[in-house]
Amino acid sequence: MNFTKELIIENTNGNLENHLPKLGIEKVESEIYTGLKAIPKYISPKYFYDERGSELFEEITELDEYYPTKTEKGILVTIASKLNLDYSNLSLIELGSGDASKIRLLINQIPKEKLSSIKYYPIDISQSAIEKSSKILASEFSSISIRGIVADFIHQKSWVPKSNNRLFCFFGSTIGNMTISETKEFLKLLGSEMGKGDSLLLGMDMVKDLNVLVKAYNDEKNITAQFNKNILNVVNKLVGLNFNANEFEHLAFYNKDKERIEMHLKAKKDMIIKTKNLSDKIFIRKGETIHTENSHKFTKESIEKFGFWAKLKVEKVLTDKNNWFSLIHFRK
Ligand SMILES: C[S@@+](CC[C@H](N)C(=O)[O-])C[C@H]1O[C@@H](n2cnc3c(N)ncnc32)[C@H](O)[C@@H]1O
Repeated sequence: MNFTKELIIENTNGNLENHLPKLGIEKVESEIYTGLKAIPKYISPKYFYDERGSELFEEITELDEYYPTKTEKGILVTIASKLNLDYSNLSLIELGSGDASKIRLLINQIPKEKLSSIKYYPIDISQSAIEKSSKILASEFSSISIRGIVADFIHQKSWVPKSNNRLFCFFGSTIGNMTISETKEFLKLLGSEMGKGDSLLLGMDMVKDLNVLVKAYNDEKNITAQFNKNILNVVNKLVGLNFNANEFEHLAFYNKDKERIEMHLKAKKDMIIKTKNLSDKIFIRKGETIHTENSHKFTKESIEKFGFWAKLKVEKVLTDKNNWFSLIHFRK
């Protein structure tokens, strides 16, 4: 997560551009301090994803309890035959691309003769995730062109690649990590950015049995707990705090009223956290929590509402046999 360097255009295996410096480290500092001084305290989930956080998330996706990745991939393996897409000169723009293992399933289904006209743009806040996944993808599909974009897709818009025939992909129900007002604003902007013929493939995790939901965020190997605690190491590095992640306990539960899993970190003791400005400190009491993530779960009504907010037509709803996860194809 590189907020300080000048905008860089680097040649890795594909091309990479970093838009985070345009946001600036001052914005990051003010966002993190505001959250840690609020009642109750919170940290934005985008700060999970330094190199270690991205690796831990990949481990989560392989856990037995974590059904969303397996279920969404199960839908993606045969998706091409179900969507009416034009693969000539298609720009695939993936938001929060992570390890890019989902887009690979779609690219695998594109006719070989079309691959050289495909452009793939992974967009992620995690530079290491883009670098690693682009390298793997480029070795598998040597003819597609790849341009990685490191950016914050909520607070920035400069990342949006301009072209015709764009398929925006937003997998993993990452949209569920946004607040409702962020979701509305984000969909409104994305919908207004899209032109005629562009479309959006959106992964949405659905409301389901409470036990299945709660287990997915409380795995036996405690990988989700490590992922949750790592956010403190990330903010330590970014803005010079001195959290000790071991002094917090992982908490994940379903908030039925708000139809979301909430993740928190609960302080095991009273503590005083130093900031760069030594006269400014953060006080945390034993038992106090820092809210680190929401994962909203959705219903059929959410799908309609999202289409309405984005001014997009729902073209297709694809789901698994349990209706646990939905992939929605929206069109302008
Ligand atoms: C829940 S993971 C999903 C990863 C992958 N799409 C999947 O389905 O397995 C969320 C991804 O979005 C990225 N991300 C989260 N917030 C972001 C933001 N505000 N801007 C850009 N990327 C973000 C993270 O780095 C991470 O790779």
